[in-house]
Order: sequence, then structure tokens, then C-alpha cells
Amino acid sequence: MKLSCLHYLTALVVAGALAASAPARAQQTLDVLHWWTSQSERKAADLLADALDKEDIQWRDAAIAGGAGIGAMKVLKSRLLSGRAPDSAQLIGPAIQEWAELGLLLELDTVSSQNNWNRAFFPTIWSLVRQRGHVVAVPIGIHRINTLFYQRRIFNELGLTPPRTWAEFERAAERIKRAGITPLAQSSEPWQVSTLFETLMLSESTPAFYRQLFERGNDKVWFDPRVTRALERLRRLKQWMPEPVAETRWESVARQLANGDVAMWVMGDWAKGELQTMGQTVDEQFGCVAVPGTADYHLYSVDTFVMLAEDYASQGQQEKLAQLAASPAIQARYNQIKGSVSVRRDADPNQMDSCARASWRTFNRGALVQAPSLTHRMASEEGLKDAITAQLHRYFVDEHVPASETQRRIASLARALGNRKSED
Ligand code: BGC
Repeated sequence: MKLSCLHYLTALVVAGALAASAPARAQQTLDVLHWWTSQSERKAADLLADALDKEDIQWRDAAIAGGAGIGAMKVLKSRLLSGRAPDSAQLIGPAIQEWAELGLLLELDTVSSQNNWNRAFFPTIWSLVRQRGHVVAVPIGIHRINTLFYQRRIFNELGLTPPRTWAEFERAAERIKRAGITPLAQSSEPWQVSTLFETLMLSESTPAFYRQLFERGNDKVWFDPRVTRALERLRRLKQWMPEPVAETRWESVARQLANGDVAMWVMGDWAKGELQTMGQTVDEQFGCVAVPGTADYHLYSVDTFVMLAEDYASQGQQEKLAQLAASPAIQARYNQIKGSVSVRRDADPNQMDSCARASWRTFNRGALVQAPSLTHRMASEEGLKDAITAQLHRYFVDEHVPASETQRRIASLARALGNRKSED
């Protein structure tokens, strides 16, 4: 007995010594900066982190709270300027090309060609992630901003059908208000106001006109009567909103809809992801339709990650994240959690819920029906977006500001800050 005990101890010591002398396999890490901090966003990020973990790469999270990434973009820029760039970051829209032009981004051409990204992605997505023929970002999901969510229980109880036109919307809102329920959810956070405004602008016009306004930085178009009408609708909709409209975080607004404190809500379909984490299911507890007048259009925001090319020390891990994130299997699972839809043309719409299917199919119709979100950085550079958002917010909260003044102010901002593409 004594002997076997001694053998056992010796074996342990030897094993320990061997383990100590074996070169330790340091786990590789990847520092990722993003703004996904709500429950569903967290779950979606965790799915990516778990996939990396299976490859022995540790996702080191650098999440910065704040809807629409207002804080995250500031942190990202200051980390970059102070030489502490993350390995990977959520960077959206034309900024991708601007940053690539400055030589800040790792080229992902090998991952792209090995995985046939050119054929796999929608054409709009494919051009979004390239600069001068090089692939410089990995797309993860397409969000639809022109989505009207509604609480089914309230609609069923009041015998209402989801509104397809503004006249139907007004009738439903009237009825809901009479029943003592707030018809339309809204927060006065500036980005949430401009998210609503851009859908109203699309509803009053077309993707082509919308692009002239937000993408071209064309000051003259801001005086168009369609802009006046969208602004007036923005203000009129306040009669259906909570009084006063508070600066509520979007996750909390989702909770109001889940609880049935409000009946409808215009928000990007990340709201669907969040409602799902609250035990709500599409077509059971809630439904979604396009914002009235926009059913044929897709007001989109594409979530993308870039890899910062500092010293190439993390290139292997960076490429792995890119490859995994765009793979068919991760795309299907990630987008289901996040509320967005796949960036891939080979995704199967029959596996999607009704909100996602409508979004994916509409996006699939191509550029003529697509409008890039201003608020979510798809249309113009950050400065112009922020300036327009501030004016819209001012107009929304202060009823004394006439629409014409807002139009004039935005036109002069567009003249001063815009025109990135106006010479095209
Ligand atoms: C992003 C989404 C995010 C939402 C709310 C949008 O700009 O594209 O991924 O869920 O902001 O933070």
C-alpha cells in the first residue's frame, strides 16, 4: 500500500515536471471593440466569441455601451490615436473605405478568395467591404431600419390589423389611444429621433431622392417639399407618443413594447433580437411590417468588422474571425439572434421568420430599392451625420422651430460639410 502510494506520488511529480517543461501553448487573443451591450447584442457577440474559442482564440471584449455606437466610435478613434488600436472593431459604412485609404486596415483578400466572398455576398455588401480592389472588412448582418413593430395582443384585442398606409396608421393609433394605451413608442435620444425621421423621409420619397439628400450632401434638395412633409409628419406623430418623450435607451423601449405599455414602435430590427430575449416571438407576441409607404424599400445598415493592421502580429486570429463570421453556419445563427439578416445570397429564406424573410427578400431586389441609413453611418461621414441629427433633434423637441428653419440649417451644413460625392 505504502509502495503504491509512493509510486503514485512519484508519478504525479514526474507528470508535473513534464508539464512545466513542455512549452506552454499561450492562448492567442483578439481584442474586439464594438457597441453590442444589450442582452441580444451580447448574445450575438458571444456566439462569435464561442466560435473563436473553439479555434483556441480568446475574444477579449472591449464593448462600449451606447445605442448606435455613439460612444464606441469616439473610443475607437482615441485608442487609435494613442497607439492602442484594438485588433478588430465594429466600423460601419463609408468609414471603412476612408480608413482603408489611410492604410489602417488589414486586407482580407486571402480569406475572401478562399471563401468565394465575391459570389457569396449581395453586390451592395461586396462593394461596401472593398477599397481599390482589396477586401478590407467582414460583413456580419444586414439590419432593416424601416420596420414597424406592433404588439399583437393589443391589436387582437382591439380588432386591428397592422397599418400599411399612414391613414390606416392614424385610425389604429386613434383606436389604441382611446383604449388608454400609448400608440407609438419613442425615445428622444437624438439617434432614435433621426432613425424615425429617415424612415419618414423614405416614406415621403424614393431611395433615389433619399440618396441625394443623405449621400450626396446636396444642399438644394433639402428645400424640397418632401422634406417639409417628412418633418411635419415627425412632429405630428408626437400626438401618439408618450408625453413627454423621455430619453429612454432603446432596450428599455423594447421592454415597453414587450409589456404592452405601448402598441407600436419604429426601430431597426435589432429590436426583434431584443424582444426575443424577453421571451417574445415573431408572429406570436409581436409582429413587424414595413413602415407605411416603404414596403418596397429596404432602409439598411450593415454591421461590419474591420481588422486593424498595426504590426500584423494578430493576423492569423484576425483572419479566423473574418472567415468564421461570414461562414454560412455562423451567419444563420448569428442573424437569428441579432435580428438582422444574412449578408449572403445563398442563405435560405425559408429558414427565416417572417420579419427576416421580408427583409432578406426585399434587400435581394437590389440597389434600386435600397437606401443606406444616415443615422447608422451608411450614407455620409460622421460629421455631417452628427450635424443633421442634432438639427432633427432640436426640431423634434422644440415645437417652436419651424420645418423651414430646420431645412435651411441642414442645407447650409450639407453645403459646408457634405459634397464628398457631389462632383461624381
Ligand atoms: C447597429 C446595430 C445595433 C444598433 C443599436 C446599430 O447602429 O448596426 O448592430 O444593434 O445600432 O445599438
